[in-house]
Amino acid sequence: MPQETRLILKYADTPGYTPDAECYLRHGGYEALKKALTLAPKTLPDGRQVGGPEQIRDDVKLSGLRGRGGAGFSCGLKWSFVDRKSGKPIYLICNADESEPGTFKDKQIIYKDPHQMLEGMIISCYANDVHLAYIYIRGEFVEGAQILNRALREARAKNLLGRNILGSGYDLEIHVHRGAGAYICGEETGLIESLEGKRAYPRIKPPYFPAVLGLYMCPTIVNNVETLCAVKHIVAMGAAEFARLGTPNNTGTRIVSISGQVKRPGYYEVEVGKVTIGQLINDPEFAGGLRDGRKLKAVIPGGSSAKVFKAGEKFKLRRKGPDGKDAEQEVDMLELPYDFDSLIAAGSMSGSGAIIVLDDSADIVAALANISEFYAHESCGQCTPCREGSLWMSKALHRLTHGEGRAVDADYLLKIADNIPGGRTICAFGEACSWPVQSFVGKFKDEFAARGAADEARRKQEANRAEAPANLKSPVAV
Ligand SMILES: Cc1cc2nc3c(=O)[nH]c(=O)nc-3n(C[C@H](O)[C@H](O)[C@H](O)COP(=O)(O)O)c2cc1C
Ligand code: SF4
Repeated sequence: MPQETRLILKYADTPGYTPDAECYLRHGGYEALKKALTLAPKTLPDGRQVGGPEQIRDDVKLSGLRGRGGAGFSCGLKWSFVDRKSGKPIYLICNADESEPGTFKDKQIIYKDPHQMLEGMIISCYANDVHLAYIYIRGEFVEGAQILNRALREARAKNLLGRNILGSGYDLEIHVHRGAGAYICGEETGLIESLEGKRAYPRIKPPYFPAVLGLYMCPTIVNNVETLCAVKHIVAMGAAEFARLGTPNNTGTRIVSISGQVKRPGYYEVEVGKVTIGQLINDPEFAGGLRDGRKLKAVIPGGSSAKVFKAGEKFKLRRKGPDGKDAEQEVDMLELPYDFDSLIAAGSMSGSGAIIVLDDSADIVAALANISEFYAHESCGQCTPCREGSLWMSKALHRLTHGEGRAVDADYLLKIADNIPGGRTICAFGEACSWPVQSFVGKFKDEFAARGAADEARRKQEANRAEAPANLKSPVAV
């Protein structure tokens, strides 16, 4: 039976483990930083001399680490895009906004092991010649900002941060910046605008790829909290050892937030792709299954913007058969390995690593109405398809959940959702607000259509009654 593999959360829930620097140091904390700062230059087989920072960048690429913030983009590749010849300073931003509904993993790291995140950041800054970095934390998470500021003070006092870190000659300062309390502040270019003191309007890519034109129009790396923690482990254990965790192209561990109608909602760290969605939901080691007497209805596999899976849905995946050859196999939604590629192949995504479970007591129309109201509220409003479309979808769903639906609403919702994504908007929020509607309505169309038709029939009946001569009206209806 699969178990948790705790790498990042190794000590997080150990009795007596506290978030202060002393405790972190007692548990081997900052050893990876010491190792990183003292890496000797190396001559590669092609004769190239590489210093410590470049070796770390190579290792992060070799480790196969993919970003844990949502898109699953290769961290090493992202770092390789940084313009190192511009003569401008390079910045690093740790994205601690964590606003995707259903996601609560970064908060656990901040609450329980903030120095691990700082160590990952300091190593990543050293590897990328960064001397000023920011932690962008969501505005509402006041306690998180306090914890991080305390950790930064401790790190400065121990010369793990500041000038000439541990005598290495390397200088770095890190500041905490509390966000503006909007979901769009988590989108990396919106975040950068907000950090610059402006409204978090995402920037158009191209030309504003952060690696080239980021914070203050300088090359900038934006990485998620968990991604930066993984960097510390890549340095500590070596790229090859890290890549042995997980599965090919989906390496390392991942912290999965599981919420909804399960017995044991919570966060679970697993090797990427070694555990299926069904195991995460049903095994006693993880979420422990549905509440007694309930059946599974649907699963949102990667935060609220991921396309929903319907219970019993089947997918065709290419997998290795018993003869070791690649073959197409039909798998049930619950048998999908929880990794980046399998979920994309099944038409959804693992996104921010957040699984939301709905059982047969869930009102699917109300669930989508709730999600859509969030997106309509959070659209920054720059792009017409997103601004208007998210609002129209939310209004239609409000109608359907308030007895005012129409038989055509299911098709109306699909029509709007199909016309927002596909390069019509500045940022991926366009997709994020459309995918839930496309998948919920697409896969549960009967329920949406029936709700609209029932509302319409009831209104017709009421209208007929109102028009009927007074002597034919039922006393009850009056
Ligand atoms: C609307 C929107 C919201 C996002 N919110 C977050 C967030 O809260 N945290 C995060 O790490 N990434 C978020 N992202 C992804 C970031 O833009 C960016 O890709 C990520 O921080 C990169 O880090 P990674 O490569 O380590 O995953 C969001 C993206 C979009 C489109
Ligand atoms: S897609 Fe939506 S959230 Fe993104 S920039 Fe356009 S209006 Fe703003």
